[in-house]
Formats: sequence, C-alpha cells, structure tokens
Amino acid sequence: MIKNDILLRALQGQEVERPPVWLMRQAGRILPQYRSLRASLSGFKELVMTPSLAAEVTLQPVDELGVDAAILFSDILVIPEAMGLGYEMEERKGPSFPKVVENADDVANLLEGNAAALHLDYVYEAVKLTKKSLAGRVPLIGFSGAPWTLMAYMTEGGGSKTFSKAKKFLYTQPELAHQLLDKLTNTIISYLNLKIEAGVDAVQLFDSWAGVLSPEQYREFSFPYIKKICDNVQGVPKIVFAKDGWFALTEMAYLDCQAIGLDWTVNPHLGREWVGPKKVLQGNLDPCALYAPAPKIRQVTEQMILDFKSKHIVNLGHGLYPDTPLSNVKCFVDSVKSFCY
Ligand code: CP3
Repeated sequence: MIKNDILLRALQGQEVERPPVWLMRQAGRILPQYRSLRASLSGFKELVMTPSLAAEVTLQPVDELGVDAAILFSDILVIPEAMGLGYEMEERKGPSFPKVVENADDVANLLEGNAAALHLDYVYEAVKLTKKSLAGRVPLIGFSGAPWTLMAYMTEGGGSKTFSKAKKFLYTQPELAHQLLDKLTNTIISYLNLKIEAGVDAVQLFDSWAGVLSPEQYREFSFPYIKKICDNVQGVPKIVFAKDGWFALTEMAYLDCQAIGLDWTVNPHLGREWVGPKKVLQGNLDPCALYAPAPKIRQVTEQMILDFKSKHIVNLGHGLYPDTPLSNVKCFVDSVKSFCY
C-alpha cells in the first residue's frame, strides 16, 4: 500500500486533484544533507555502490521537498560498468571511461543480458532498503539510460557537447553500432525487470542524448531499441524521456509506455498535439526558471499546469542544476501541491 499514490494514479490515466510532482536530479547537490554525506566519502561511486547510503540519499528529497515520488539514487553508467566497461566520476568534470568501445573485439568482449545485470546486486539491494525506509509514503521510481545514450558515453569516453565520436561510430560502423545497441538493450531489459522484482513502482528511461541525432538516425539507432525495452519490461508504469527528441514524439505515442517526458523546448500544446490524447505527459519547466524570484516561479509553474490541462506530471525539462537555491525548489514543489484543477 502506498499512502501518497497520486503519481501512480496519474500514470494509470486517472483524473487527479492536482498534477503529481517530482524532479529529475532531485537528489544531490542542492541538498546540504547530501553535500555533507558526500564530503565524508571517497567519492560518488561509493555512494552509488553502498545500498544503505544510496537509500539514505534517495529519501532526502522526499523528506526535504515533499515530492510525490522518490527516484533511486544511482547512475545510468552502472550498466556499461556491469557489461565490463568501468566508469569514473571526477569532481566537477562528470563521468569518463578510461577504456572506450572502438572495434568489434571491444563489442564482443562486453557481457550482456542477465549475465551483466546480475553484477548490479548493489542496485537491487538499494531498491529493497529504500522501499523499507519509505514505508509506503510515496512510490519509488527506478531508471535506466536508453541504449543510444549509454552507447554515446561508451564510445565518446565521457560527456561532450556534440558527441561527434559517438555519431561518427554510427556513420562509419553502423552494423557494429547495432550489435552494441542490441547488447545494451538486452542488459537494460534484464536490469529493469530485476529492479521491478526488487520493488520499484515505476521506471523511467533517460535518452538524454536523443537530441544530438538526426531524425533519421534516431529512427534507426534509438527508437527501435526503446520500443524493444518497452515491449519487454512489464508490471509497472513506464516513462520515456528523450531529451531534445521532439522530432520523435509522434512515433513515441505508439510505445508501450504510460508517459512521455518533454524537455523545456516543447510547447505543452504542441507536445500534446504531437503525442496525441492517450499518453500522460511529464515535464517541462526550464530548470533555469528556478533561479527566478518566488512569485515568478509560482506564476510560470501555474501557467505550465494550465497549459498542459490534464494527464500531466509536473517535472523540470531536465535535471536540477546544483546551484539552484533550495528555497526556490521548495517554492516550485509547493506551487504544484497547492494547485487545484
Ligand atoms: O535524483 C535523481 O534524479 C536520481 C539520481 C540520478 C543521478 N544520475 C545522480 C547523479 C539520476 C537519475 C542520474 C541519471 C544520469 N546520470 C543521466 C540521465 C539524466 C540526465 O541528466 O540526462 C546521465 C546523463 C548521467 C550521467 C552523469 N552522472 C553525468 C553527466 C554526471 C555529471 C553531472 C554533473 O552535473 O556534474 C553524473 C553525476 C551525477 N549523477 C551526480 C548525481 C547526484 C553528481 C555527482 C556528485 O555528487 O558529484
């Protein structure tokens, strides 16, 4: 039994009294309690790989912000690591891969499916501990990176503005790219199903780098794999978020998922027109709007809710930036919670 189940009711397409609200990257550097815990540890990965700490950090924004869902504290890059490609997380620099995927041997050497997903016991343990600590207060969201986004990091070696090395891979070695994407897809399916078995109440796929692809590339190298994941992960509601993937929204309407995430560049009316009436839409306030004074935050939040009208989960159009004032994040959440349709 979940006491505050407004997110799950909304995901089922039910009419709700107000839209539910949670934030991408709600856990982490905006919270003083996160920063002090993080400072006492060897690094980000210790937090991710220690189930009791991951559970603790997952609960922090639920306690502090009063959001309608918890999202498991983890990272999308645990999947490449479980497949044999370890990542590093450097302070302020973001993630990097000491070894990247370049050729057929590199792809052949990667583990896939259950064999890889079984290396992620620490994640399933974190899910179980988090569920216990939440004690049914709000639902717990589990997540994975989408195949293309994970491939982008594995071939590029880290973050990038253009992901031109990853895109070069698609243009020069398309068959090998498909083999890699296939292995990632099989692993993600096992991983999400194991997370569901461990107790998550909903899952979200992050295709954070959808927007560097052309529509044709997206149709060939990303969409079919997301479709396969949606078709093979069952039992809880699914949310698909393809950042800057507005050009794929009309096709995403046919995915076996309950909700589609929109980034902040998509006008809510157009988003609804493109996706059609069936899916719930999630998003999409510009994270930078949370730098504004409180009255402005309230105004743009309420306007967004009015623009989406119904079948809407409030979120940002991408993750929270670490220098967002905590009081402004609270103002955003409170504005949603005091709204009445
Ligand atoms: O609160 C939550 O949303 C749950 C936790 C979460 C993290 N990463 C924690 C994190 C989630 C859902 C992710 C997903 C993730 N990780 C994505 C997809 C979402 C997106 O933002 O598009 C991506 C692309 C990654 C890879 C990644 N991890 C990057 C690019 C970075 C550096 C980001 C930065 O701002 O420096 C990370 C590190 C990371 N993941 C942090 C957190 C809290 C910061 C680490 C720290 O405390 O130093």
